[in-house]
Amino acid sequence: MGNLTFTMIKPRAVEQGFTGEIIQQITAAGFKIKAMKMTLLSKHDAERFYAVHAERPFFGSLVSFMSSGPIVAMMLEKDNAIADFRKLIGATDPSKAEEGTIRKKYAESVESNAVHGSDSDENAMIESNFFFADREKF
Ligand code: RTP
Ligand code: MG
Repeated sequence: MGNLTFTMIKPRAVEQGFTGEIIQQITAAGFKIKAMKMTLLSKHDAERFYAVHAERPFFGSLVSFMSSGPIVAMMLEKDNAIADFRKLIGATDPSKAEEGTIRKKYAESVESNAVHGSDSDENAMIESNFFFADREKF
C-alpha cells in the first residue's frame, strides 16, 4: 500500500468554519500535509473530478454542490494512508459513521458529508495531480 491520499474539505464544512478543526483532527491522527490550497471548482472542474460517477443518479446534484463554494484540497502522507484516512472520516452516509469520525462530527447529509477521501493509491495520485503542480507538493 502507498503512503499518500488526497482529501477535500467540502463547501458546506468550509462555509460553516470547520476547516481549522478538521485539519487539526487530520494532523493529530498522524497525517502530514504535503500540499494544500483553498479554491473554487467550476461545474466543469467538478464534472471532471467526479467523472467516475457520471452515470449515478446523484451526479448532477453532487457537481452543483461541489462547485457551490470554496473547498480546501490537501495531499496527505502517512503509512497506510488510504485505509487510515477513510477510517478517520467514517462512512459516506454520516448517519452510519462511527462516533468521533470527521463525518460524524461535521457532515450534514450523504452529499454534504464534510470531506472527500481517495479510494485507491492510483486515484490518490490522479486527484492530487488534478489540483497540484509538482512545485506545490512538498
Ligand atoms: P468520497 O469519494 O467523497 O470520499 O466519498 P465516498 O468514497 O465515501 O463516496 P462515493 O461513493 O465515492 O461518492 C462520492 C460522493 O458522492 C456523494 N454521494 N451522494 N446522494 C447519494 O446517494 C450520494 N452517494 C454519494 C457524496 O458526497 C460522496 O462523498
Ligand atoms: Mg469515493
